[in-house]
Amino acid sequence: MSNAFHDKVAVVTGGSAGIGYVTAQKIAEGSGTVYITGRDQDVLTAAAADISGDVIGVRADSRSADDLDRLFAQVERRSGRVDVLVVNAAAIATAPLGTITEDIIRTVFDVNITGTIMTVQKALPLLVDGGVIVLTGSMAAHKASRGRSLYAASKAGVRALARTWALELTPRGIRVNVVSPGPTDTPGIAQLAATAEEREALFAAMGTGTPMTRAGTAEEVAAVIAFVASDAASHVNGADYQVDGGYGQV
Ligand SMILES: NC(=O)c1ccc[n+]([C@@H]2O[C@H](COP(=O)([O-])OP(=O)(O)OC[C@H]3O[C@@H](n4cnc5c(N)ncnc54)[C@H](OP(=O)(O)O)[C@@H]3O)[C@@H](O)[C@H]2O)c1
Repeated sequence: MSNAFHDKVAVVTGGSAGIGYVTAQKIAEGSGTVYITGRDQDVLTAAAADISGDVIGVRADSRSADDLDRLFAQVERRSGRVDVLVVNAAAIATAPLGTITEDIIRTVFDVNITGTIMTVQKALPLLVDGGVIVLTGSMAAHKASRGRSLYAASKAGVRALARTWALELTPRGIRVNVVSPGPTDTPGIAQLAATAEEREALFAAMGTGTPMTRAGTAEEVAAVIAFVASDAASHVNGADYQVDGGYGQV
C-alpha cells in the first residue's frame, strides 16, 4: 500500500479499535491523512499516537448529528475535503425473537442505519468528485445466526443503501462499496469473553462454521477495505466484498 493514499484525506468511523483501527493504519501507511472516530477521546488519542503518520482522533458518536457536524467541521477546517470515507462504526446485540425490545431495536438501528446514513450525508459536501465510500457490512446480512435478526437486518440495510448510493453518486464519480466480514477476531468480539481461555474457545467456535476453520483477523478485513478504497479498485462499484474465509460462500 506504499503511497496508495498519498495526498488523500480519509475518515474512518469506529477507527479506534478493531477493523477500523487497522484500516486507518493501512491508509496512514499509504501516506494518507486519516481522521478516526469513536466515543472515547482517550482511546482515540492513544490510537492516533500509536499509528505513525498523520492520524487525528475525533470523538464522535455516530448516533449524534451534532458530533458528526463537529467531526466534518474539523475535517473541513484542517483538510478542506474528504477523499475516502469508511463507515465502520456499528452496534451489535443478541435478542432472540420474543425478547426484542424497542431499546434494543434503537441500539442497533441508531448506529448501523441512522448513523450510517447521517455519516455519509454529512460527509457528502466535503467528498470530492471521484471519491470513495466503503461501508462495513457483515456476513450476518447473508447468513442467519440465532438471536441476531436485528443486527442482520441492519447490515442487510447497509448493503441496500450502498447499491442505491452507488447509482446516485455515479454522476460524481464517487464509488460506493461494502466490505462484509465474517467472524473476525477483534477487541469488540474478544470482550465477550472473560478470560484468555474463554477468548480462545470463542474464536475457535467462531471458526468452526468456516471452511478455513478459523475466525479472520482485523488485518485480513482491513486489507480488503484498503484495496476497495484505493485507486487500484477504480472499477469496483456497488459491490459487496465478503471477507469470511468461505463462511457464507460454500
Ligand atoms: N468482528 C467481527 O466478527 C465482525 C463481523 C462482521 C462485521 N463486523 C463489522 O465490522 C465493523 C467493525 O467491527 P469490529 O469487530 O472491528 O469492532 P470493535 O473491535 O468493537 O471496534 C469498534 C469500533 O467502533 C467504535 N464505535 C462503537 N460504537 C460507536 C459509535 N456509536 N460511534 C462511533 N464509534 C463507535 C469503537 O470505539 P468506542 O467503543 O470507543 O466508541 C471502536 O473504535 C462493524 O461494522 C461490525 O459490524 C465485525
